[in-house]
Amino acid sequence: MKKRFLKLLFLSGAMLSLLTACEYDYIVPTPPPPVIENDTISYAQDIQPIFNAKCNSCHASVPPVLTVGISYNALMTGNYVVAGNPATSELYISCKPGGSMASYTSSEHLALISRWITAGAKND
Ligand code: HEC
Repeated sequence: MKKRFLKLLFLSGAMLSLLTACEYDYIVPTPPPPVIENDTISYAQDIQPIFNAKCNSCHASVPPVLTVGISYNALMTGNYVVAGNPATSELYISCKPGGSMASYTSSEHLALISRWITAGAKND
């Protein structure tokens, strides 16, 4: 009888630790950033218009020059963009909240810039 009780005690202990282990696993994972496959974002259609509207009152002369036909090369040769990695791209860093250019950038524009860089920063 005593042995059975001990066995039960051990089993319920094991069950409890299993359950709490499951709960722990359930709480810990943070959702991965959304991966956008085959993003249809276009530099000419989606990104350049942001520069034209929000940036070129200054960046027609201040580097990086962001005017039509000039901006892509200026961003790439000036190392303002690391294709595939917004977090290390000066363009993204300066535009995100807290960045030096944040006041000229809406969250919508920031999201477009991030998607464009993530999708490979192509000149399309
Ligand atoms: C009112 C003028 C002005 C506007 C508008 C402006 N910028 Fe700038 N930007 C500057 C100046 C001046 C510098 C260089 C000195 C500095 O960092 O403040 C600069 C620097 C930068 C840099 C280089 C990194 C850095 O922080 O020095 C990037 C990238 C940039 N701007 C992107 C943008 C983008 C993208 C926009 C539009 C969303 C924008 N800027 C709007 C004036 C402006």
